[in-house]
This record gives sequence, C-alpha cells and structure tokens, in this order.
Amino acid sequence: MNTQEVLNQMTLEEKAAFCSGRDFWHTKALERLSVPSVMMCDGPHGLRKQEGEGDHLGINKSIETVCYPTAAALASSFDREVMRQLGEALGRECQAEDVAMLLGPGLNIKRSPLCGRNFEYFSEDPFLAGEIGAAYVQALQGEGVAACAKHFACNNQETLRMSGSSDLDERTLREIYLPAFEAVVRKGKVRSLMCAYNAVNGVFCAENRELLTEILRDEWHSDAFVVTDWGAVKGRAKGVAAGLDLEMPGGPNATGEEIVKAVREGTLSEADLDRAVLRLLRFVSDCAEQRKPETKADREAYRKLARKLAAECAVLMKNDGALPLQEQQSVVFIGEFAQSPRYQGAGSSHINVPHPVGALEAVQNTVPYARGYDSRSEKTDPVLLREAVEAAGKADVPVIFAGLPEAFETEGADRDHMRLPDNQNELIAAVAAVNPNTVVVLHGGSPVELPWLSRVNALLCVYLGGEQVGAAAVDLLYGKANPGGHLAETWPLRLQDNPSYLNFPGEEGVVTYAEGIFVGYRYYDKKEMPVNFCFGHGLSYTRFEYGGLTVDRESLTDQDTLTVSVDVTNAGARAGKTAVQLYVQDRESTVRRPVRELRAFEKIALQPGETRTVTFTLDKRAFAYWEPRCHDFFVESGDFVIGVGESSRDIRCEKTVRVEGTVFLPFTVTETTTIGQLLRHPRGKEIIGGMMQSSVMSHADQTEAMGEGSERMMQSMTMGIPLGALVSYGRLTSEQLKALIETLNA
Ligand code: BGC
Repeated sequence: MNTQEVLNQMTLEEKAAFCSGRDFWHTKALERLSVPSVMMCDGPHGLRKQEGEGDHLGINKSIETVCYPTAAALASSFDREVMRQLGEALGRECQAEDVAMLLGPGLNIKRSPLCGRNFEYFSEDPFLAGEIGAAYVQALQGEGVAACAKHFACNNQETLRMSGSSDLDERTLREIYLPAFEAVVRKGKVRSLMCAYNAVNGVFCAENRELLTEILRDEWHSDAFVVTDWGAVKGRAKGVAAGLDLEMPGGPNATGEEIVKAVREGTLSEADLDRAVLRLLRFVSDCAEQRKPETKADREAYRKLARKLAAECAVLMKNDGALPLQEQQSVVFIGEFAQSPRYQGAGSSHINVPHPVGALEAVQNTVPYARGYDSRSEKTDPVLLREAVEAAGKADVPVIFAGLPEAFETEGADRDHMRLPDNQNELIAAVAAVNPNTVVVLHGGSPVELPWLSRVNALLCVYLGGEQVGAAAVDLLYGKANPGGHLAETWPLRLQDNPSYLNFPGEEGVVTYAEGIFVGYRYYDKKEMPVNFCFGHGLSYTRFEYGGLTVDRESLTDQDTLTVSVDVTNAGARAGKTAVQLYVQDRESTVRRPVRELRAFEKIALQPGETRTVTFTLDKRAFAYWEPRCHDFFVESGDFVIGVGESSRDIRCEKTVRVEGTVFLPFTVTETTTIGQLLRHPRGKEIIGGMMQSSVMSHADQTEAMGEGSERMMQSMTMGIPLGALVSYGRLTSEQLKALIETLNA
C-alpha cells in the first residue's frame, strides 16, 4: 500500500472517521481505497480474542486458549529469554487467529502494593520493567504482531482511574514513571502505545502533547501510533493536535464529527490530522505485509511452555531446609488453591482457560489433601481448620496453598489492605504450630503481609503463575525444577511502611506522588528499613558465589562506556539459575539520590561447579539522574560504586570508579548566590577561593573566641553566606560586587 497516496485520496470525513475503531476490536476498513480492517485483542499473558460481542472488562467469553504467567510473575524471572519464548508463542497464536495487535505489555510502575492491577504490571523498578517489556515486544513483533505498550502514563492505581490526575514532579516522571516506556520505544521499537485514562499534572493523557508528541515522537523518535485506552478519549480534536491517533472502541458513538468540525472551523490543522491518519495507514499496511495466514497454533506445546515458564518465574523466598521435598517423605497438601489455584486476575486481561491445573491434579491425587479454608469467605471454618491441623500433625511436611482470593485483585478497584483473609492467616499459624516443617505456596499478584513468616519453614511465591501454576509448583516443591526467580518488588512488613502510604489513592481525584523518586527499594533502602523481602531477593536449591569483579577503566567521562565483568560460580550440588544484578551508587551527590539503583542484570544457568564470567556495559544513564535545571539526564562528577550481587541488599562485590560529567549546568550568579554554591561554579572557586583563604583564623584562635565546635560552625555559616552580604560585612564594595557578578556570569 502506498500510504501517502491513499492519504491524498481520502476526504476530510474519511480521514476523521478512520481515526476511530469500527467496533470493540477492529479498525475501520476503507473499501474504496482497498484499506483492510485489522483486529487487536487484549493480552498480554494470553490471547483474549472475543468472537461474539465485545467488551473490555472480561465479561463476555473469549476463545479458549492458554494462560501464561501474569506480568507480576514474569518480571520475577529476571529473564529476557523467558520473555522471548512467551512473545514468540503469543505472536504465533495471534497470527493463527488473525490478530494484528496484542494490547500489552502493561508497564506501569508498582507505586503501591494496593493497586488492583499490579498483577498486570512488572515491577517497582523502571529498568527491570523496561528490559523485560522490551524483550517481550521484540519477540512478539518478531512474529509480525504489533505490541501496544500501556498505559501511558502514570496509571498507578485503579481508584478514579478514568478521571483522576497523577501529580508529580519532572524528575520523578523521568526517573521512575517513563523509563520503562522509553525502553520499549527505543529498544523494543514498539509499534503502538495506549494512552492512559488519567491525567498527568492536570492534563489528560489522551490530550497530553508533552507526552504524546514532545516526549514520544520528538525526543524518543518513535513512529508508533497512539490508541486511547477504551473510552479514554476526551476533547477529540485537542487529542489529535496533541498526537493521539486512534480512538477505541469507536463504533457508532465515535467522535469523528468533532474532528471534521474542528478542521472546518480552523481549530485543528488538517496537517495534524494527516499525521495521525498516515501513522494508522502505515500500521495497517505493515500488518498486511507481516501477515502469515498459514501459521498454526500448537496449544499443546504452549501448555508445556506455560508450565516451564511458571516454574522459571516462581520465587523461593524462604527455605530453612524443608524444600525440596523428598520422595520418601509423607506430605499433605492443604488449602483450596491446591485443587483450584489462583492463576490470573480479573478484568480485561482475563483469559478463557478450559482446564487450569492445580497441584493435586499434577500429583494425580497421590498426596493426601485437606481443604483448610473456604476461599469465598474470610472467616475460619472450624471443621476445615481442625481437619487440616490433624492431617498436618501426622505428615512429615504440610504444604499449604494459600493466597489472595479472586475478589481481592481486579482491574477497576484497588485493594483496601495488604492482608490475606483472616481464615488463611489462622490456618497457616495453626498448622505451623503443630509442624515445624510447614511449607507455604503463595498465590497472588502483589505482596501481602506475612504475620506467620518466622514460624513457617519455607515460602514459595508463585504469584499468579498462569494455568499451569499447580504443575509448576509441584516441579519446584519436589526439586524437578530449581527455583531461580527473584523479586521484582519489595515485600514490606506492613502496608504503613510503603512510601505512598500517606498519598494513596489521593483526595478529590488528585493523587500526589509526594514520595518522589523514592519508590520501592529506593525508599526502603534509603531509610534502612526492615522489610520481609527486599527487591531482587530469591533463593535456590543451590548457591552462587561471586568474585573477580573487574572494570575496563577506573575513570571515565559520561560520554564513555564502562565494561564490568564478574565471575559467578555455582557452588552447590544442583544445576540452577540466578539473576546477577548490577547496582550503581553515587557516593556523594548534591541532590537526593537512592542508595543504589539497578542498572543491569543477566539471568544465567550454571551446572554444579561451573563458573561463568558475566559482562555488562554501562553508559551515561547508569550514572545519571534527571536534572530539571537542564531538562535532561545529568551526571554529576564524582565516585560511583558498582555493586554486583543477588539483591539490592545482598551485594557480593564492589568496585569504585570516577566519572566526570561533561555538561555544566546553567548557573546564573546573583546577590543571593551563596559562597557554597559559588565554590561549585567552574570559575567561582578560583575567584572566591582566594578571598576565603585570607579570612581563615587558626583553630586555636577560633576556639578561644567562640568555643569548641566553632570551626564547624564557621565553615557551615560561611557556605551559607549570600554574596550580597559580603558588602555588609565590609569584604566588598557594592561596585566590586557588581563587577564580580558580571565576571562570573560572563
Ligand atoms: C483496559 C485496557 C484494555 C482495554 C481493552 C481497558 O479498560 O484499561 O488495559 O486493553 O480496556 O479491553
């Protein structure tokens, strides 16, 4: 299709109409010009293709297919290869079903554990979310199926999701909430983005020119088209002018007429509309070119893949020796989720699974079972509790399958608290009281409080691991698979510890991200707070040793790259995988920075005794923070510690390098500029430094005059003196001050 030629032949009305969907899941065809309609469907951890009537809330049925681990689980794999395998399988299935675009991945940052859609999002860390997301996008798009990164941007809660405003400062937006999108755009070359329902700093995303044009197109150089979230359109013409292309779901209620009217009245330029139409035409044309109608979906193979991936994603959080289970041990499975597991969340991502597999089925009912609790109630059923405790007392190892009930986690509503239902907490405590080998397998899309943690022997988190989660849990419990997942989010002791606690979900439709950049481990680590499990944590049935950390240079500028290598050895007796994590710490800085931030990672598989050298390349962004004074990522010269290890709190080896920034911040000297600020000015130090020297008293004289500690006091007070005050102190005349300021600003 020659898209420019098609555009030239379209009438204004046709162009306006083309910018909204035909129905829930299709773009409009333009038969006159041979432009086909294409289909998009929800995902992202399976294919939710509705053949009958469409809806976007997971109400009406979609085709029966395979449900893979949800995003919360996937990110815990820390494994780009997992994402590649998933993206490829989904891409093939979409081709087989004639679906041109899958609506995912969800890239929003987990600001609060309460967000109802956390199971659909990857991480509290933007780098991890971006890398995992980009790997998924590359694999899916490699099969000729478009991905759609959502929800752009700052859609971090469900409360008032369609009307609220997320208010945050520039640095927080750039360091925390945008980088995952930036990564899937720049690295993943994502073909589409879905704008969020909410506003950012009072401007709805659907008409946010800063997000949709200045950042996405001008700065990140993306040619992706932007689709509204379903029903997120606000001022339609304003949206087109801001860079919004497609309105969904469209249909008879679409707003094409508004566009025509705005162009006729001159409030929207036709050139802006043309740009949107051209982006959509290119998308439709690419879909036609990349269509592979002969592709067959091999659902049997996909089910096996779902089982393998679920095992790769699970995180062994605690193990005092009860795991792996031994064949000769007597085991009892307790809890409803052993029979019918929680494996996905509710809402638009809901996959129609014919037959989810629980752990009991996976062991062909060869393990005795006690139901333990009723998942539709929060109250303890004394009969179920007694049966479970009795069975646990007789077994070598009781394994409790617990977790958040379905009603707790859904699109459209946030959780009210971070607790498991009382009946499950009581059950776990009661079982642990009679058997010290108690193992808990935890299901859910987000952290929960763990009041019984110190009393159980082992804890395996399978998140919402997809339809094969029960089979994967059995593989892991019995050691047929070795856990290698690591947490993509901190598990705080209690909800009150979370940095968003005082500002979630906001008031009167406005949520202020007052914690700024201190989200997740950036906050807990800075405050040195105890947590249940820190970011990056994950155990294995083997153990890994780290050594030989080397860097290719000890000093560099922010224009150079740094190569870091580390040797990792499997020092145990089983083959296993680990997530090698590299964090960077700015030793000293004039702005607030987290203790350390994840800047690289690699998942590796090692045989017992095997050593591998893992190599990372770091560039400017690894050392930079967002500096509002120059509206860019900025490196402040100084020492940086490169730490490599197994979690944000388990750094196994470190090396310090010196990085020189090559950009100087704009700095205007005025009468209120302080001596301290001036000493950081490139010429200020030279000029003012001399003046300072001449006024220094000896330590003894100062102590004599003003007492012990006066030297510190003088130092601190001097740094805070504004230049103007030097005139009052008789150090400069007004004329000299004026001349000095002119020289410094020259
Ligand atoms: C959700 C999107 C989803 C869309 C289509 C919306 O309500 O927020 O994530 O892709 O519906 O179902």
